[in-house]
Amino acid sequence: MNELELEKQFNERIARDEKIEPKDWMPEKYIQTHIRQMSQHAHSEIVGMLPEGNWITRAPSLRRKVALLAKVQDEGGHGLYLYSATETLGISRDELINQLHSGEAKYSSIFNYPALTWADMGAIGWLVDGAAIINQVALMGASYGPYSRAMVRICKEESFHQRQGYEILMTLMNGTPEQREMAQDSMNRWWLPALMMFGPTDDKSPNTEQSVKWKLKRKTNDELRQAFVDQTVPQAEFIGLTFPDKDLKWNEERKHYDFGALNWDEFWQVVKGHGPCNKQRIEARIKAHEDGKWVRDAAMAYAEKQINEELKQAI
Ligand SMILES: [Fe+2]
Ligand SMILES: [Fe+2]
Repeated sequence: MNELELEKQFNERIARDEKIEPKDWMPEKYIQTHIRQMSQHAHSEIVGMLPEGNWITRAPSLRRKVALLAKVQDEGGHGLYLYSATETLGISRDELINQLHSGEAKYSSIFNYPALTWADMGAIGWLVDGAAIINQVALMGASYGPYSRAMVRICKEESFHQRQGYEILMTLMNGTPEQREMAQDSMNRWWLPALMMFGPTDDKSPNTEQSVKWKLKRKTNDELRQAFVDQTVPQAEFIGLTFPDKDLKWNEERKHYDFGALNWDEFWQVVKGHGPCNKQRIEARIKAHEDGKWVRDAAMAYAEKQINEELKQAI
């Protein structure tokens, strides 16, 4: 069968909502786009451990510490799971990690903002994981089998992350004036970057059309962003938080919330490596990788020993 026929069959399978599995034929561009998006997702989970990991030792109670620790460990698990799923497309873990460390691969720009106060643990869980859920629930219907299955599993854990974040802010909002102020300050700093997590507006997102066709994306960036705003406004109002956006208001005609324009210059600056913490985040990842070398070496030596013993027995 020639390439054109293969591609035609492939597109028909996607149209029928069939999952594409690792051993199936795929167009090269489908593979490359998936490697890019899935590895970017994996890197985001791993780099995303850093801003919160930094607060584990400063959690205000044992209960908070246990919850935050579990949350950060979950993110590590999501990263590893997604790296494995990406490897099914024929790229090695080493290559993926090198792309992150060299700056060739991107990760979510939100993790280049600093976590300055305890309230930020609330805002990150509630807003950042909340935005991730909206995105990831849509991805459960993605056409590539290993990716879509990874999303099902990951989404279950993300809802715990979001609730623990919301509960942190709820507790602070029921606390002293200083605690309420800390929660509001955190909201003021995280809200707009969280909205930008959905990526550029649809008219500035050149890959969207193809990604929707391949069912790598089931909804556009603007649709997802709107769903996030609509979901989050009542939650904020319930605990008394306000939004750093004077244009945010209910639109009766559209039956959605309107919101102000976002600062896309800032977004691109952060994506290009000029955010407040880009350098620090990558340095932390490289150091962790280097510090972990002995573990990888030991695991390889052990695996080699096992193979040699099996060979000896076979002879
Ligand atoms: Fe995650
Ligand atoms: Fe999460």
